[in-house]
Amino acid sequence: MHAALRTGTAMPVAIVGTGYVGLVTGACLAAIGHSVVCIDADPHRAEQVARGNTPIHEDGLPELVREGVTTGRLSATCDLAAAINGAKIIIIAVGTPSEDGRIDLSAVEAASRQIGAAIKGRTDFPVVVVKSTVVPGTTDTLVRRAIEIESGGVAGELFGLAMNPEFLSQGSAVHDFLDADRIVIGQWDDRSGNALANLYRSFPAPLLRMGLRDAEMVKYAANGLQSLLISYANQIASLCEAIPGTDHARVMEAVHLARMLDGPEGGRAGATSFLKGGIGFGGSCFPKDLQALAAHGRRLGVPMALIEAISMINNVRPAQVLNLLGSVFEKRIAILGLAFKPGTDDLRESPAIKLITRLQSRGAELRAHDPLPMTRKRAREAGLPVVDSVDAAMAGADFIIIATAWPEYRALDWNALAALPHPPVVLDGRLVLDGLDLPRRLRVIRIGVGVEPQENTAEERT
Ligand SMILES: NC(=O)c1ccc[n+]([C@@H]2O[C@H](COP(=O)([O-])OP(=O)(O)OC[C@H]3O[C@@H](n4cnc5c(N)ncnc54)[C@H](O)[C@@H]3O)[C@@H](O)[C@H]2O)c1
Repeated sequence: MHAALRTGTAMPVAIVGTGYVGLVTGACLAAIGHSVVCIDADPHRAEQVARGNTPIHEDGLPELVREGVTTGRLSATCDLAAAINGAKIIIIAVGTPSEDGRIDLSAVEAASRQIGAAIKGRTDFPVVVVKSTVVPGTTDTLVRRAIEIESGGVAGELFGLAMNPEFLSQGSAVHDFLDADRIVIGQWDDRSGNALANLYRSFPAPLLRMGLRDAEMVKYAANGLQSLLISYANQIASLCEAIPGTDHARVMEAVHLARMLDGPEGGRAGATSFLKGGIGFGGSCFPKDLQALAAHGRRLGVPMALIEAISMINNVRPAQVLNLLGSVFEKRIAILGLAFKPGTDDLRESPAIKLITRLQSRGAELRAHDPLPMTRKRAREAGLPVVDSVDAAMAGADFIIIATAWPEYRALDWNALAALPHPPVVLDGRLVLDGLDLPRRLRVIRIGVGVEPQENTAEERT
């Protein structure tokens, strides 16, 4: 895909922060011909990338990183000052986690200071671009000031300033970056915006230029909408679970056919994939971005009731789903899937982990599995009860909970499981088994379906 985006004019780019966003951005920009140095404060991570290895799981990323390092267009280091020397575009892609429910901008501030010190005395107008998700007003205050103090220059003269929110989704990050649906450029001045637009000149996506604060806000508005759709579907699913005879999936199928959700060429709009019940959303973005937005609104005297409700609905969802099982005390339970979504190794805020914690506190005996060895290793290090094969997870289980929609789990031998003397009850938390011709003997509890309460208990099976 990247061949079509190859640019004739290679730009020297430095990216501060080599995580999911920084590394994907760096590898993709290198793949289309730019010359990229990735910088990370973690020496192990920088070393891995410098050797052509990929420290995170993303489809297509290992190939791009290897190719970039081999061609010399991609390199990685811990030495920020050396790396940004000569870079025309310096992208900040460090983390912006939540601290006491508010955005923690300390990594952004530290990176801005380091960049400021490193560009002191330059005369070639390097443009500093904030790609991290930051609350509106961060780039033109905290970032600008930190760079100005350390560099001794001012924005628009010594250096350019821009904000470029990232819309990639983990699990399809390389595809999302290279086949972007839109590119948003927030600019301090035209000169800064022009330089950044030049970086993306070969992308066919609509490119929108706006003020820095609008660009910062776009990211929150976009994440808020996506998570709203998920929580909306989950709230409908919860209600269906309390109304015997209803099935939220059947309800949603009809909702999806509304004309306002028409996609291109008569298909369904992408929004419908979010309008689907599950066990809740997780990951490093939605939960903390919602918290940051709500806190920002409160600070400005603008109550963000809807945003707060999205989080509230999401927070209670794992417990609601577990209620479908009845008593779990001393039950053996297999959790299938640890990552917050399929296609990624990321465990941050994963609903699977919320399920595990809750089940443990209720006296269940757990064995969890994830298809990715790197995820299992990290989960084990975090003290979670992880086993290396699905069979080991399911052996002797009373319940199996599908917590992440990995396609591998749909492909399991459900007939063999049903043939066991005491087949486990399967709770399909992601509706990955829908459409399969499952053996009648296998009892599958689909989320979002209302049944009489006693029908779901383990005792009922025996
Ligand atoms: N992960 C996503 O799907 C996604 C999507 C869009 C936007 N974002 C936003 O992008 C930003 C980065 O997210 P991420 O998931 O890539 O984070 P991450 O935690 O995966 O990576 C951040 C990296 O920055 C490094 N770092 C921190 N301070 C540094 C410094 N001063 N110098 C050099 N390196 C430093 C860390 O060691 C880490 O490797 C966040 O603001 C996030 O909200 C993330």
